[in-house]
Amino acid sequence: MSGRFITFEGGEGSGKSTQARLLADDLRAGGHTVVLTREPGGTPGAEAIRALLVTGAAERWTGWSEACLVNAARADHVAHVIRPALDRGDWVICDRFVDSTRAYQGAGKGIADDDLCRLHAMACGDLWPDLTLVLQVSPRQGLARAGARGDQERRFEGHEAAFHDRIAAFFAELPAREPDRCHGLDADQPIKALASVIRTLVST
Ligand code: TMP
Repeated sequence: MSGRFITFEGGEGSGKSTQARLLADDLRAGGHTVVLTREPGGTPGAEAIRALLVTGAAERWTGWSEACLVNAARADHVAHVIRPALDRGDWVICDRFVDSTRAYQGAGKGIADDDLCRLHAMACGDLWPDLTLVLQVSPRQGLARAGARGDQERRFEGHEAAFHDRIAAFFAELPAREPDRCHGLDADQPIKALASVIRTLVST
């Protein structure tokens, strides 16, 4: 049997990394083999690209530079980690994937969604998740949460408020546009309550 590929998406500070970890723990406790990974990242090469993307001045890269960088990272990640895991029958839980590119470089930076989907088809073998959980939080609240983490990966947080509003609007609309794959979830609820909703969604 081939494994299941689940992605978590959302704006800054939506709590998706916590929920991805809780789901992975839960599935492992249920006897599944789970690869928990993230983007940009997941391989040494892709993590090196991540460092280029998430640090430095906001204006460091254009939208197309970012789109190429995230696809270079994703192509490596898909080829070396995600595809092999799915072929082995493992579950893969990934913190961000192609929908983040559609949100940040597409809605956020004005690249056409069709172009980004074509690039994904060419660079990453058109691999799409079986299920995408979209965590929705207001940009103001999410940015406050992300800021409180105090890590070095602040480049996107430094973009203007309208950029984060466009990303939030993309993620708000995605579940209705692609209902077979995407589920929207209110991230403004207690961690355990949200984890339990996610567990139910994954087991159905
Ligand atoms: P993180 O906040 O989930 O750790 O993700 C790192 C940043 O990378 C986040 O600000 C969103 C950004 N990003 C993109 O702009 N495009 C992408 O395709 C991905 C995967 C992430």
